[in-house]
Amino acid sequence: MELVQQVKQAHRSFPSGVTVVTAQADGQPVGLAVNAFSSVSMDPPMVLVCVNSSSRSHASLCGARHLGISILSHIQSAVAATFATSGGDKFSGVAWHEGDHGAPMLDDASAAFEVEIVSRMEAATHSVFFGRIVGVETSGLPPLVYAAGGFYDGGRLLAV
Ligand SMILES: Cc1cc2nc3c(=O)[nH]c(=O)nc-3n(C[C@H](O)[C@H](O)[C@H](O)COP(=O)(O)O)c2cc1C
Repeated sequence: MELVQQVKQAHRSFPSGVTVVTAQADGQPVGLAVNAFSSVSMDPPMVLVCVNSSSRSHASLCGARHLGISILSHIQSAVAATFATSGGDKFSGVAWHEGDHGAPMLDDASAAFEVEIVSRMEAATHSVFFGRIVGVETSGLPPLVYAAGGFYDGGRLLAV
């Protein structure tokens, strides 16, 4: 198997949540599904997301001061599919609200962060956005889990 295929196969061994990363661009919300999300530090609280520069949302995210990072809940697999499809009006069928700094936050998410972008690093095809957390919301809804190409209910995991 060639290296890229081996890498893709190996990534299937790493389940993740699914986030929707959003920003306001000229008064319009933009965003895309992102599972390349990680906590970076607690003091100050920081996270990162990696966004492909070929995505339509990329330029708007680069132009924003704040991002919304909504961690999808177990009832939002259709929302994940919508935000993983390029273009179109992704927000028309989705309830959302603004964070304190104006970033779009999706209703019914498991949790959401509003972050101030503090730096951006270009890495091959992707931009890595580092954000300082300036707002947090939690709903208590279990997370959506993405594993090996499928979506799962994070509230029904088997303990081992
Ligand atoms: C589960 C899942 C995770 C994804 N994670 C990322 C990611 O971390 N970074 C990224 O740039 N695209 C990711 N994508 C792909 C984008 O969501 C997809 O390319 C989207 O159509 C881009 O929308 P846009 O072109 O309208 O901005 C992911 C897709 C799925 C289904």
